[in-house]
Amino acid sequence: MDKQDIYARIPDALLPWYAANRRDLPWRRDKEPYHIWVSEIMLQQTRVEAVKGYYARFLETLPTIEALAYADDELLHKLWEGLGYYSRVRNLKKAAIQIMEEHSGQFPREYEKIRALPGIGDYTAGAISSICFGLPRAAVDGNVLRVVSRLTEDATPIDLPARKKAVTAALEEIYPAQAGEFTQALMELGATVCGPNRAPDCDHCPCRDFCQGYVAGVAEKLPVKAPKKGRRVEEKTV
Ligand code: ADE
Repeated sequence: MDKQDIYARIPDALLPWYAANRRDLPWRRDKEPYHIWVSEIMLQQTRVEAVKGYYARFLETLPTIEALAYADDELLHKLWEGLGYYSRVRNLKKAAIQIMEEHSGQFPREYEKIRALPGIGDYTAGAISSICFGLPRAAVDGNVLRVVSRLTEDATPIDLPARKKAVTAALEEIYPAQAGEFTQALMELGATVCGPNRAPDCDHCPCRDFCQGYVAGVAEKLPVKAPKKGRRVEEKTV
């Protein structure tokens, strides 16, 4: 089967599965961009279970973009304490100020404007664009790269930037009207049934029928990462 034919089969398999199996997570209860934004930033380097409490406390204390923009740095540090990677919360505030000053306090609704905010990369811009605004934008992280590598039986190393670009483009070709649901369905499959650091649970996978990795018996061996470059040894005379 052609790779793009495999991609084309993903939405119809994944959307009903997601509707029936999605975890009830605090940031799935509404589509308010401020909420989705905060959750995606927190989830970048942190596990779902660890994020739940921080997410609730953060939004209780700072319920609006305006409150975040004017928040005291010490308070922000306290709200983030234990999550680590403090540049994330510094960028949240910077972006909130930018939204107040350049977007009249309204979260921007266009991909390029969202992507231009401090601390928002391709992944987060894709997640917010699709989940909050229904735009056909993919959010490709390690989980999604693993799912796609298995479905298409592709051993291209996932840590090559060109690979992420190619997967993003291929997914955006087949994005369904339920864009936000599809983004989250891909994340969900990659976080659960097709999760990291263990054998995939193919018996419970909605994509098993057309998963080329499964058919070839190599799903567990995918994805492939580029071999780490050894430390370079330089000879110098001082
Ligand atoms: N990891 C990254 N984004 C996520 C989300 N929206 N839900 C669950 N896990 C995630």
